[in-house]
Amino acid sequence: MIDFDLPLNRRNTNTWKWDGEGKGAQFPMGTADMDFRMPEEIRAAIHEKVDQCILSYACDKSYFGKAFAKYQKKRYGLDIKPEEVMPGTALMAVFKVILEAFTAAGDGVIVQTPVFGPIYTVTKNNGRMLFDNALLYNREEGTWSINFEELEEMAKNPRVRMLVICNPGNPCTRGFTKEEMQRMYDICNANDVIVLSDEIHSDVYYDGRKHVSILSVCDAEKNNCVVLTSSGKVFGVPGLKTAAVVIQNKKLRDRYGIASTNARMDVVDLGLVASTAGYEHCEGYILELQQYLQKNKDYIVDWFAKNDIKVKLTKPEASYLFWLDFQDWKMNCQELTDLLGEYGIVFSAGDEFGGDHNEGFMRMNIATRYEQVVGALEQLKKCYEEKIK
Ligand SMILES: Cc1ncc(COP(=O)(O)O)c(C=O)c1O
Repeated sequence: MIDFDLPLNRRNTNTWKWDGEGKGAQFPMGTADMDFRMPEEIRAAIHEKVDQCILSYACDKSYFGKAFAKYQKKRYGLDIKPEEVMPGTALMAVFKVILEAFTAAGDGVIVQTPVFGPIYTVTKNNGRMLFDNALLYNREEGTWSINFEELEEMAKNPRVRMLVICNPGNPCTRGFTKEEMQRMYDICNANDVIVLSDEIHSDVYYDGRKHVSILSVCDAEKNNCVVLTSSGKVFGVPGLKTAAVVIQNKKLRDRYGIASTNARMDVVDLGLVASTAGYEHCEGYILELQQYLQKNKDYIVDWFAKNDIKVKLTKPEASYLFWLDFQDWKMNCQELTDLLGEYGIVFSAGDEFGGDHNEGFMRMNIATRYEQVVGALEQLKKCYEEKIK
């Protein structure tokens, strides 16, 4: 049994979440890394490698693809061949290479805001024409859904080459259903649009929901899909910046291979060692982590139901990044950041999540000790009562 409640000092560890944006704050709940120890098996694997006293150029990296494919079969029932898996560095660096491989400057790329900010900015800042198929917000229900009619229109535009989805959604916490995934895939496939699915948060779902990979709704050989993922988030090693790219269609894989060689995309062997240890030995850690996060999530949902502080919580389905609507506080994101800071709370500002329609939203990272979650919500209430009510 892993004790996720065991305190772990993160201050003065050169950690962006605690020593950068969260410096001095009692409740740093912004950047998406977890406040939990990595699994012991990963710590030991890293240690063993470091004890070789040289971190050298690797000669064989195929072990990573093999471990990843096995893990995906076990956890999600996906049939992926090891050769369809390519290791890469940081997801967003790989994303840039994927853009290079499958689109040219001036081509259209569809994104669905609110979305992890760099998906939006990397697309836009690299000369692609960004089509925002914004998710539809039902404020009353606290839910987000896909605007399929608009997606279909956009996909038909001959300039559009790619749809990028965040699955599950960061920050909307949507765990898209099989029907939704199928419909997105079918629309894109019919219009020769590649689907890039960022599945980095696939290991955290609530209330018995299961991850639906884009690879589970398409035909393995002919498919138009690219999956980008990493075990960094769920195993507490995001700093190793190790990603996996899965492309089953050989033609697309070869195109990616050329772009990745041209970008001199390479990986740190230590990252592959850590991820492989995770894929091979740490499913148990994930299952226990899920239970722990479910407890945090249940507490938070219940707390917002009982405490009317004029903040709407999006119904969390997946991921540990919860989306809060502060619009009734009538403040922009900078003002909210400053005010919450006075109460020792750091959340990620909504305006980082693509487009200009996320003012008044903030994202809360709940992958921390239960005690921290309870404390942060108490402070939030105090803030509301003293400054807003
Ligand atoms: C959806 C999503 N994709 C990608 C990343 C970033 O990955 P990397 O640090 O490997 O670029 C994050 C980090 O928070 C994320 O939430």
